[in-house]
Amino acid sequence: MARLTVNGKVLDVEAEPDTPLLWVLREQLGLTGTKYGCGIAQCGSCTVHIDGAAVRSCVRPVSTVGPGEKIVTIEGLSPTGSHPVQKAWSALDVPQCGYCQSGMIMAAASLLASTPDPSDADIDAAMTNLCRCGTYNRVRAAIKAAARGDAKAAGLSILHADGSTT
Ligand code: FES
Ligand code: FES
Repeated sequence: MARLTVNGKVLDVEAEPDTPLLWVLREQLGLTGTKYGCGIAQCGSCTVHIDGAAVRSCVRPVSTVGPGEKIVTIEGLSPTGSHPVQKAWSALDVPQCGYCQSGMIMAAASLLASTPDPSDADIDAAMTNLCRCGTYNRVRAAIKAAARGDAKAAGLSILHADGSTT
């Protein structure tokens, strides 16, 4: 048994102490926005926040998370998908297949909470998530757009099929 605070709710779950937090979130709580990629803390697809810090939930035993620690998953980042990072991601069409993107967004949101106007070096240090589709340039641009509140400030304008640009 573990008591967790997830997306603002206090929840009791049945789990072995060494069960990774990722599996509790996905299998018991149905929060499948958090993805399994590697299981060895390399890819970042399983990233969630614990008290605002980006954490790779695939290697975090559930027993090491206390009930007073606030876990936030991609489902809880914003009730309406209107977090500045989500808006920038949408404006710049960052995702390709999408598999890595919830982890990318959670890592970016944590970075911007602690470093509101990150340099390239800050982004390099914080964004160690892997993307098989190679969205790295747009991830960087979207982080800068979110930081400045303006997609065009990121220096990346996207031409859409209808002729509009963002
Ligand atoms: S699944 Fe956790 S880092 Fe890859
Ligand atoms: S968007 Fe496909 S793995 Fe990143």
